[in-house]
Amino acid sequence: MSIIMDFISQVPLLLIISLSLITTTTRADPLYQICQNNGNYTTNNTYQSNLNTLLRSLSSNGPITGFFTATQGSPPDQVDGLVLCRGDTNETTCAACLDNAVPDITQLCPYQKSAIIWYDDCLLRYSNLRFFNSSDESHDFYMWNVKNVSDPTPFFKMLNGLMDSLVNQAVNDTSSEMFATRDVKVNGAQRLYGLVQCTRDLSGDSCANCLRDAIGEIPTCCAGKIGGRVIGASCNIREEKEEQAKNSSSDHHPCVPFSSNCLRSFRLPAKKDDYYEECTNGYMAPEYAMRGHFSIKSDVFSFGVLVLEIMTGWRSNQF
Ligand SMILES: *[C@@H]1O[C@H](CO)[C@@H](O)[C@H](O)[C@H]1NC(C)=O
Ligand SMILES: *[C@@H]1O[C@H](CO)[C@@H](O)[C@H](O)[C@H]1NC(C)=O
Ligand SMILES: *[C@@H]1O[C@H](CO)[C@@H](O)[C@H](O)[C@H]1NC(C)=O
Ligand SMILES: *[C@@H]1O[C@H](CO)[C@@H](O)[C@H](O)[C@H]1NC(C)=O
Ligand SMILES: *[C@@H]1O[C@H](CO)[C@@H](O)[C@H](O)[C@H]1NC(C)=O
Ligand SMILES: *[C@@H]1O[C@H](CO)[C@@H](O)[C@H](O)[C@H]1NC(C)=O
Ligand SMILES: *[C@@H]1O[C@H](CO)[C@@H](O)[C@H](O)[C@H]1NC(C)=O
Repeated sequence: MSIIMDFISQVPLLLIISLSLITTTTRADPLYQICQNNGNYTTNNTYQSNLNTLLRSLSSNGPITGFFTATQGSPPDQVDGLVLCRGDTNETTCAACLDNAVPDITQLCPYQKSAIIWYDDCLLRYSNLRFFNSSDESHDFYMWNVKNVSDPTPFFKMLNGLMDSLVNQAVNDTSSEMFATRDVKVNGAQRLYGLVQCTRDLSGDSCANCLRDAIGEIPTCCAGKIGGRVIGASCNIREEKEEQAKNSSSDHHPCVPFSSNCLRSFRLPAKKDDYYEECTNGYMAPEYAMRGHFSIKSDVFSFGVLVLEIMTGWRSNQF
């Protein structure tokens, strides 16, 4: 239930985000954030100063290897923090993402003792509770491309094999640093792309379990869709389907796994900004929909879609 409340509490904030997306286009916006309501701190107290010190340490140390944890202060004012950048980002991209995340998280979750914020390129989390070294699957959300693939069968057949091999690679190959990505040919020109990543404080077993649980959500969230993502505080996965080869020179450059150039050039309609490039007649057709990870069997209309409709209404009133 709490995730639903978390999500509902975000609605006004998402409206603000949508407003800022319309006026600014360069800055990467969060995919989502969760203000955990584990209590509030007050201005100028020890917790706040510990948090500020911690956030500075996370954003300056995180880009070096793309992962960093730190602890500041002692109970009851102890703050633990973690940052993780997407495994194929360089130091510059990672630093830019974290430089956004620090002011964003304090603005979007003001005075919150615990919060998590996600972007395409990074994750930042801090808490007054101890969360290192254990897998957290209670703060997941989905994103899916609203477009359907015309024939899901060949992709479906390849998906589990691809994701399984990525899990093994992320966990068994220590040099992978709990990140793996690859794209495979499906039928001739079709391609299937997968990505998995865990926070590096997890054990191999915890990482594998977290990833497998996330992969198990794909049929629920994203079956038949062009792309899907299951994103959590400890691990995240992503799959994208490409039905037709791009009619460009990139067709002649085979994708080399683990080359970030390759991934970046792969057509991934994942940037949140893409939602807004899909606008026609001032009416927003989001590329991705999203929702919190609550009861799957629930008949409740997707909160993500609800939020998007509110934003759409706002937009269509404005234009
Ligand atoms: C923290 O502050 C927010 C906003 O002021 C409030 O809605 C929430 O109930 C507070 N939480 C606690 C645990 O006091
Ligand atoms: C917090 O501390 C700063 C610097 O010591 C001071 O300028 C500010 O007025 C204080 N704010 C509150 C709300 O006490
Ligand atoms: C880092 O990656 C970004 C995005 O792929 C790229 O534009 C930039 O040139 C890279 N910077 C360095 C120093 O490699
Ligand atoms: C987490 O695990 C690392 C490595 O196994 C260990 O050094 C560290 O003390 C652990 N931290 C906590 C809070 O358990
Ligand atoms: C995708 O397929 C589902 C179920 O077959 C259908 O309800 C939905 O309208 C389709 N969406 C689009 C964007 O075509
Ligand atoms: C890792 O390697 C071991 C031994 O080769 C294998 O049994 C296991 O299934 C692999 N994968 C994971 C996720 O541990
Ligand atoms: C694809 O490329 C061919 C030449 O390589 C060109 O004639 C054709 O117009 C292109 N099609 C599209 C849809 O861009």
